[in-house]
Amino acid sequence: MNDLTDNMAVEPGASPEAAQHQGRQPGRLLIEAKGIRRSYKIGDRTLDILHGVDLNLRQGERLCLMGASGSGKTTLLNILGLLDKPTKGQVSVQGLDGWSLSTAKRAELRNNHIGYVFQFYHLFAELNALENTLLPAMLKHGFWAYQARKKQYKERALELLHRFGLEGRLKHRPGKLSGGEQQRVAIARALLLDPPILIADEPTGNLDRATGETVLQLLFQEQEQRNLGLLLVTHDESLASRCDRVLHMEDGIIQSASDQPTPG
Ligand SMILES: Nc1ncnc2c1ncn2[C@@H]1O[C@H](COP(=O)(O)OP(=O)(O)OP(=O)(O)O)[C@@H](O)[C@H]1O
Ligand SMILES: [Mg+2]
Repeated sequence: MNDLTDNMAVEPGASPEAAQHQGRQPGRLLIEAKGIRRSYKIGDRTLDILHGVDLNLRQGERLCLMGASGSGKTTLLNILGLLDKPTKGQVSVQGLDGWSLSTAKRAELRNNHIGYVFQFYHLFAELNALENTLLPAMLKHGFWAYQARKKQYKERALELLHRFGLEGRLKHRPGKLSGGEQQRVAIARALLLDPPILIADEPTGNLDRATGETVLQLLFQEQEQRNLGLLLVTHDESLASRCDRVLHMEDGIIQSASDQPTPG
């Protein structure tokens, strides 16, 4: 396993954001995955996708996962985020073994501790920006219990959407929002319940460079302020250089981990 989390430092001449991370102590372990394997059965064939992956994510860490298309990045993220069960291996989130919990407890762990951002936003077409942002609270409490807490969540959602420059778009449905705006709504949604972990699968992959940069600034800013553990998949080398640690995946195995080396 390539566990380099105890040496979080940045490359000489690395971006200002990465440099700001210099000297920061790695926080507590948020996700610990060991020996992750994932196979799919297709008819009488078994397709082995992940071949034994170990990975740790710590509080305050920006961890980047890179690799060719089809190498298994999204498959791994879904497993780390407790959305998909590994064929073998263990995923602990906040010290709890995710797949030994009941379905309800696992859902609670996921809802309270992990926010997700996807390449294609995954917003609900029938809900407006504010309603999409509030969705995790509805799912967490159920419709009726949510009604009693609605005021508090609405304030929080509005605060996030204002901060993300979307105050004029609250009633817009996704179809009437630009890609960058949809992704900002998706980030607000991911942060609504204040999770310590943020998992982002190519969050700027569908955006032009300038829009992607705006979204990324926002993501990094939130990561810094909340001291989140951020696990980010990208194909963009320059984006990776702004992370604390980069893992390279090849055919379902993590081949190398580049910790950004200490200056001097
Ligand atoms: N439900 C499934 N059933 C069968 N095969 C699957 C399933 N999901 C993914 N795969 C296969 O697993 C492999 C890895 O897919 P995955 O989506 O994890 O790749 P990726 O690294 O995220 O690629 P990309 O960079 O294009 O997003 C692919 O060959 C894919 O076809
Ligand atoms: Mg993918």
